[in-house]
Amino acid sequence: MGNKMWAGRFTKETDERVNDFNSSISFDARMYKQDIEGSIAHATMLGECGINSAEDTEKIVSGLRGILADIESGALQFDPTAEDIHMFNEAVLTERIGDAGKRLHTARSRNDQVALDIRMYLRDEIPVIKSQIAELIETLIRLAGKNLTTVMPGYTHLQRAQPITFAHHLMAYVQMLLRDLGRLNDTYKRTNIMPLGSAALASTTYPINRQRVCELLGFDEITQNSLDGVSDRDFCIELASALSMLMMHLSRFSEEIVLWCSWEFKFIELDDAYATGSSIMPQKKNPDITELIRGKTGRVYGDLTTLLTMMKGLSLAYNKDMQEDKEAIFDAIDTAKLCLTTFIPMIDTMKVIPENMRNAAAKGFINATDCADYLVKKGLPFRQAYKITGTLVHICIEKDLTLETLPIADYKEVCEVFDEDVFEAISLDTCVMQRKVRGGPAPESVKAQIEYSEKALEALR
Ligand code: ARG
Repeated sequence: MGNKMWAGRFTKETDERVNDFNSSISFDARMYKQDIEGSIAHATMLGECGINSAEDTEKIVSGLRGILADIESGALQFDPTAEDIHMFNEAVLTERIGDAGKRLHTARSRNDQVALDIRMYLRDEIPVIKSQIAELIETLIRLAGKNLTTVMPGYTHLQRAQPITFAHHLMAYVQMLLRDLGRLNDTYKRTNIMPLGSAALASTTYPINRQRVCELLGFDEITQNSLDGVSDRDFCIELASALSMLMMHLSRFSEEIVLWCSWEFKFIELDDAYATGSSIMPQKKNPDITELIRGKTGRVYGDLTTLLTMMKGLSLAYNKDMQEDKEAIFDAIDTAKLCLTTFIPMIDTMKVIPENMRNAAAKGFINATDCADYLVKKGLPFRQAYKITGTLVHICIEKDLTLETLPIADYKEVCEVFDEDVFEAISLDTCVMQRKVRGGPAPESVKAQIEYSEKALEALR
């Protein structure tokens, strides 16, 4: 009667459609290494505790090592008809070493096994994403260092607002990315906890040593409740959430690059290697990478929503719904990594066009606040100074002038207090240089920001 593990309980073969529907090997095979390493630790512990004989333990461990080597060399292929990676590895082991293989699953269930495997998989991936983020931060800091005096307009409502520098703008993203690193570190702490020994849901009657498995696998601690141990996927949701936030940041940056490389802005030009052409319009150079990142952000949000919705209302402990966790969290990881892989060199190779940034800064009355502040420094109340400056801006627009080119006579006509020194006070460079409070765009402040960020990065790595 069939070759199913549970054939004893059943009187019929499983319908082939059910087999296909149930199977997760097409997507959980990628955890083969974690599955085997987890099994080696479990088998070692069973041997040490005298639950399995030393001889069987030796066979199991070397058998598992052989399977790992053969998968990695390509000598052993995954069986697409296997139910999942756990069943596959165990079946191959038993095929290869005989009865000893059947002793591996003592005191264990696939429920705690899969919880272990996912934790190990995520634990391996988080540092990879972290190092990509760190590389992006370093790239941005380098670029900022070269653009401390590159004046550009800062925007609110996408309207030119006040002058800043390109360095200051880039460093805003560095702060976001540092927080992303912090969130990944936090997630890692709650991921690196060892659930094996929870078994199906109620732990086990065997005298196992969970702490030993914890040590063998390099976890920080063991889970405290067997029901929670098999039914917790918070760590997947946390990672998907951290990655959603990361993608949100990348999507904002991407949107700005889309704007900046348009003819309307032309603040930057993408390297030819990181842009694409059009099949019909010969003049086009498109920022496809950034648009794709903007688009893929939706995918990662979708993964987060999938995980949250999958877990909503699930009774304790394991339910098969939870098999759906893997495609979602793997997709979120793959997508974030893929985006960072192209985004970093794209940023690193793009050409900055400081003249265009400065021209844009010179045209939008972005020194109007500084003009009002000039009057305040001469004793006027801010609200009055604000109103006078508004009138001046109105006059400039009518005369097609800027605050820099409006004659002093026009200034004086609106308010007696103005003098020639107003032009110095409203020059773009003064506007930037004077904003030297911590967190401001003045070169010295941005330098301090860079120093702080470099230290923060070291602490978060
Ligand atoms: N493939 C399953 C999963 O990914 C493994 C756990 C199955 N457990 C069970 N009792 N059916 O969730």
